[in-house]
Amino acid sequence: MIQNKNILIGITGGIAAYKIPLLVRLLKQAGAHVQVICTESALQFVTAQTLSVLSENKVHSEFFDPETHLWNHHVNLGLWADAFIIAPAGSNTLAKMVQGQCDNLLLTTYLSARCPVWVAPAMDLDMYEQPGVKLNLETLKSRGVHVIDAEEGPLASGLSGKGRMAEPETLFQALNDYFAPPVTGWLGKKVLVTAGPTYEAIDPVRFIGNHSTGKMGICIAEALANLGAHVELVLGPTHLSVSENRYAGNIKTTRVKSAKEMLQVCKDLFVHCDGLIMSAAVADYTPEFVAPEKIKKSDERISLNLVKNPDILFELSTHREQHQFSVGFALETQNGEENALQKLHKKRLDAIVLNMVNENTGFQSETNKIVILDNSGKKIESDLKSKSDIAVYLLEHLNLILFKHENENRH
Ligand code: CTP
Repeated sequence: MIQNKNILIGITGGIAAYKIPLLVRLLKQAGAHVQVICTESALQFVTAQTLSVLSENKVHSEFFDPETHLWNHHVNLGLWADAFIIAPAGSNTLAKMVQGQCDNLLLTTYLSARCPVWVAPAMDLDMYEQPGVKLNLETLKSRGVHVIDAEEGPLASGLSGKGRMAEPETLFQALNDYFAPPVTGWLGKKVLVTAGPTYEAIDPVRFIGNHSTGKMGICIAEALANLGAHVELVLGPTHLSVSENRYAGNIKTTRVKSAKEMLQVCKDLFVHCDGLIMSAAVADYTPEFVAPEKIKKSDERISLNLVKNPDILFELSTHREQHQFSVGFALETQNGEENALQKLHKKRLDAIVLNMVNENTGFQSETNKIVILDNSGKKIESDLKSKSDIAVYLLEHLNLILFKHENENRH
């Protein structure tokens, strides 16, 4: 529901700016809280008074408030927002967003915003076709920005073609759809999610680990909570944590270090859960002995004996109750589908999520691209998206795979 959501609107200079008061009104009517940032040139096309009356908030345009001389804290605006929409977004602003430039309050806010961001481009038809502009839009998309495509029609130049900003109703719909997920099988489910690496101690100061940050699993936990599920998140050692939004109360986090610890905690929690999504990057091997004191530098060469860790997913999945579902991940560098299918069958999963390691996917990346394989032979492949969008995409498809019958009975 968009009701009670905090929506930040950024307006740049362009004739379509005159339509934004209507967007503010639609959002307010739906019960959202609205704040507006205008660039200096936006204020040539729409007045701050109109926007502030409709949004019932002060309009921000400068780094310092000209009356109070107080600093307009762009970080606070970015943190306040549940969604940030930049409309109309001119080619200059799009290019600066790509490059990380920030010579106005709108851009600084964009750079520090943690919420999902939408842009609604508006420009003349030839500009919209320009390879540079197209590339900037593609780059923003690949970084997870939602692009609301421009529409065809008469343009301010007198020409006609594609470049008009999408109508305020379309912008409202895009935001509303984002916050109004369909009722799904996730509602009320209790789901065990694992995320992050495990650290296998060598001695009191060293460990074997991997580059996982746990971001993908945290995004899944947050998306589940948004869909009304209750999440038991078992998180390996990472600096990341669940963000403080209004659904965070639906997520209980238990922090663990080693694979053995993760197995124990998961076993205890899983009996109370409806299913499991195992995204943690569990270390396959652990040192046979943990040295009680720091190992001192001595010989030219030393060796470490490693023994196999328990396979948590296999243990839980093969001992689960009939009503419990089990979803695993497969991180591969080669023969992705073949390896993932083997894991799907060997670990007796309902579905497996394959992600390949490359520049834009896998560990320490903000984006991901997945293939979902289920045990009926179905294969679903996503585009490259931000990890939070991938989480939503994954849950939409798992909803169809896991709760097909429940959903049918509901309708
Ligand atoms: N997994 C697990 N316990 C382990 C290793 C992996 O629970 N000791 C889980 C992962 O969380 C993931 C799935 O098993 O959901 C597949 O993990 P992956 O590392 O891709 O494969 P492995 O089974 O470890 O096989 P390999 O490393 O040989 O590819």
